[in-house]
Amino acid sequence: MMAGDISLEGKVALVTGAAQGIGREIASRLTQNGARVILSDVEPELGQEAVAAINAASYRDLDVTSEDKWAETIAAVREEHGRLDILVNNAGISPAADIEQTDLDLWRRVQTINVESVFLGCRAALPLMRESGDGGSIINLSSIQGIRPAAPLAAYSASKAAVRALTKSVALHAAGDRIRCNSVHPGGVHTRMLDNFAALTGDADAAIAQMNAANPLGRVGKPLDIANGVLYLASDLSEWVTGLELVIDGGSTL
Ligand SMILES: NC(=O)c1ccc[n+]([C@@H]2O[C@H](COP(=O)([O-])OP(=O)(O)OC[C@H]3O[C@@H](n4cnc5c(N)ncnc54)[C@H](O)[C@@H]3O)[C@@H](O)[C@H]2O)c1
Repeated sequence: MMAGDISLEGKVALVTGAAQGIGREIASRLTQNGARVILSDVEPELGQEAVAAINAASYRDLDVTSEDKWAETIAAVREEHGRLDILVNNAGISPAADIEQTDLDLWRRVQTINVESVFLGCRAALPLMRESGDGGSIINLSSIQGIRPAAPLAAYSASKAAVRALTKSVALHAAGDRIRCNSVHPGGVHTRMLDNFAALTGDADAAIAQMNAANPLGRVGKPLDIANGVLYLASDLSEWVTGLELVIDGGSTL
């Protein structure tokens, strides 16, 4: 790859769940490569801190489950930036519960935050993305559990499988406007989400050490591993790539 190949100069990006973890790292990588990035989340303090730390464009409160908030956010992006080139649907939750531990409220909460949000986000963003006539890139965070479900993550696995399928449907729908839609499938990545999961074992450090040892490439993921994949999908380097499932997991699903 030549220096300067990944330039997002002139592009505007919106990242959900960007106050911390993988979303924050994605926002940082997109900013470093020249995009004007709007971070969004339901954690305004952390979100504003992140904007300052990574020198991004701005922060907006966006509860991804709210149809009205999506409409307001896209209207604000149109008003402030006049275009939207990149949407990263990253916000998500992963409560540990097998099928028998999952009550209907939990099931619905997971589907609402993890999938309904992606439906609302793609649908709200497409008209503005189309307006520029320059195409666009939507990147949806699924998980390896969307491909290889886990018993202790029943609702989560189902939600991430739905994101995987919805992504391909959007990819086919929007291809005529050169708007691409791809899913990213991280394995275990060291964030608050993984720490919470590891803590359930009673010895989080031992659980993380075990995950490191079990991974073919010898460690769990870093947010940067995922952000680098998103950067590729956001850039014109992937202009002929749509409907892809980009698995980034150190080989754990092999
Ligand atoms: N960490 C992992 O091991 C891992 C593995 C596979 C996939 N993923 C996926 O990557 C994405 C990011 O995960 P992470 O590990 O950074 O998680 P995280 O918990 O560190 O961060 C998630 C962010 O989403 C925000 N969020 C939650 N509900 C929201 C809502 N309704 N509206 C807007 N924002 C909301 C939270 O405030 C938080 O800032 C998720 O979709 C997750 O499922 C993570």
